[in-house]
Amino acid sequence: MTQSHPRISKAVIPAAGLGTRFLPATKATPKEMLPVVDKPAIQYVVEEAVSAGLDDVLMVTGRNKRPLEDHFDRNYELESALANKGDAERLAKVQESSDLATIHYVRQGDPKGLGHAVLCAAPHVGDEPFAVLLGDDLIDPRDPLLQRMIEVQEQHGGSVIALMEVAPEQIHLYGCAAVDTEDGDVVRVSGLVEKPDPADAPSNYAVIGRYVLDPHIFAILRRTEPGRGGEIQLTDALQQLAQDEKIGGPVHGVVFKGRRYDTGDRGDYLRAIVRLACEREDLGPDFRTWLRSYVTEEM
Ligand code: UTP
Repeated sequence: MTQSHPRISKAVIPAAGLGTRFLPATKATPKEMLPVVDKPAIQYVVEEAVSAGLDDVLMVTGRNKRPLEDHFDRNYELESALANKGDAERLAKVQESSDLATIHYVRQGDPKGLGHAVLCAAPHVGDEPFAVLLGDDLIDPRDPLLQRMIEVQEQHGGSVIALMEVAPEQIHLYGCAAVDTEDGDVVRVSGLVEKPDPADAPSNYAVIGRYVLDPHIFAILRRTEPGRGGEIQLTDALQQLAQDEKIGGPVHGVVFKGRRYDTGDRGDYLRAIVRLACEREDLGPDFRTWLRSYVTEEM
């Protein structure tokens, strides 16, 4: 049954975490600014929001926010230096990030958790459904996920989360969803638990960094106490939505089987760079040749 809902146009990108897994690189630079080949991770995320039709982007930043704001702003000095040299190709690259979308910023004073970061977006978002894209989570543009989640939200209302099946011994690293009905790539979520012990995990469905949320989540977040790790967890607020659909409609999950990289994790970050570099038309051929000989001769 297709219901009538406001069109989703706002994307919230939390990028205020401490990034402790990546120290010391993240001591003075947000982890979202770490380059993946030659673009900061967060630019891929903003590009994904824009290609899903979300042209109003709110970034939740914290300490070290300057590099993020500067990256999505004009840099007249650099632009005029490149223009004077006649380097149109690099000039276009510099201008690309500032022309992408209208980007707004809000500051999360204290990194009190992802749930708290999302709550900082409440005044900007208002009373309409919105998307959340984690700034350190890359979804390969060839495997579009957000468009599908928006479709599912338009069909069912409520909230939609992204799920990925992981090995049972990995589930303690993620939020985990209990599901009751499945229909193709869509599941009905009946409960959520943040980073469960494998023995207590209700499924192998891990929550990954894309959400389409009903605005009722804000009222729930306002009364959500700090949970696992002393942080205000988005998963805990979603658990309440899933348990009582009278509050903000149902919670569905879209099961994602495509390529995804957690660039906040050092191993996944390296895998993302190798894979994306191999696939690049400009860098790929040379890099693949080197990689092949490195693997066969030196490993
Ligand atoms: P993570 O769970 O990866 O936490 O956050 P983290 O603190 O950034 O990283 P580690 O674990 O210490 O290495 C997931 C996303 O939520 C944002 C992060 O910036 C990241 O994009 N986040 C997290 C916030 O914006 N605020 C917070 O208080 C916590």
